[in-house]
Amino acid sequence: MLEERVLLTGTTSGVGRALLDLYARRGANVIAVNRRSVPELESSYPRVRFECVDVRIAERVDELVRRLAQSAELPDVFILNAGINDIDNDEFFELARYRAVVDTNLYGVLNFVEPLTRLGRGAGSRHLVAVSSMANYVGNPYGLGYHTSKRALTACFEVWSRMYAGTDLIFQRVMLGPVATTAIYTMHDRLPAWMVRLKQLFSGSLEGTAWAIFHFARTRKRRLFYPQQAVPLYLALWLCQACVPRLFRGRKTLAGAERRPEQSAHGRRSEPLG
Ligand SMILES: NC(=O)c1ccc[n+]([C@@H]2O[C@H](COP(=O)([O-])OP(=O)(O)OC[C@H]3O[C@@H](n4cnc5c(N)ncnc54)[C@H](OP(=O)(O)O)[C@@H]3O)[C@@H](O)[C@H]2O)c1
Repeated sequence: MLEERVLLTGTTSGVGRALLDLYARRGANVIAVNRRSVPELESSYPRVRFECVDVRIAERVDELVRRLAQSAELPDVFILNAGINDIDNDEFFELARYRAVVDTNLYGVLNFVEPLTRLGRGAGSRHLVAVSSMANYVGNPYGLGYHTSKRALTACFEVWSRMYAGTDLIFQRVMLGPVATTAIYTMHDRLPAWMVRLKQLFSGSLEGTAWAIFHFARTRKRRLFYPQQAVPLYLALWLCQACVPRLFRGRKTLAGAERRPEQSAHGRRSEPLG
């Protein structure tokens, strides 16, 4: 039996669901935070405490953290995993979509950080684990919200991991590569066929990802890159982006010129960016 108390966000599917299963099977005290109630999931894990909270709403997150602190049930580990991806910069830039992604991926994590940093010392050590992405190093022009939110999240955790070194708060960031068969992995995200193939070749499994995060959260290490085989891929893409900008310039690059008419549906000319 695992003594740990862990809070997981976004456990209705994908990585969060795999983590929920792993922690619950090992007898940990799990608090699963989802934006909606899923009765089948909840009945499968009778010992797990499910909290219905949209991580974008700061007041709700704050209230949850305060309630847990007051009842001395504050978890040892927070795995802040909830995240979304969307196409927000295709024929035109869609601010509402961009905002929804940033609200979830960035503020949905920072909303937990603020109340936790306000708690006094001596409340026991807490691991704050942000689930970021290797994609934060290589922008997809069509998913700007995803790229920039993960980039900002990574930067914040990088700073906090140094700032809070040696204190009760342990800031850890997980840089995930593609995780096979998750919703984000399978979404039609405008990548060209050769990139989709690379993504498939260098992806990790759901179970492997959950195990890697589980073990990482038990250390005081600052970052985890998983799966390892995706690191050279993202490094190569990052180098290409820096040295061969034509490859990543935008509208005519990733999906190819033939996909887009010269005149878009919204009457704008399909000029390459940059
Ligand atoms: N899969 C990959 O290839 C990959 C690669 C790199 C990084 N990541 C990161 O890994 C994390 C998990 O991704 P995944 O692939 O497992 O995604 P997923 O299967 O789509 O799961 C995302 C989870 O987040 C929840 N969620 C979304 N918005 C929320 C909100 N406002 N409040 C509370 N919960 C919310 C979803 O709940 P609903 O069911 O209600 O939507 C779902 O439970 C994400 O942060 C993602 O960016 C994934």
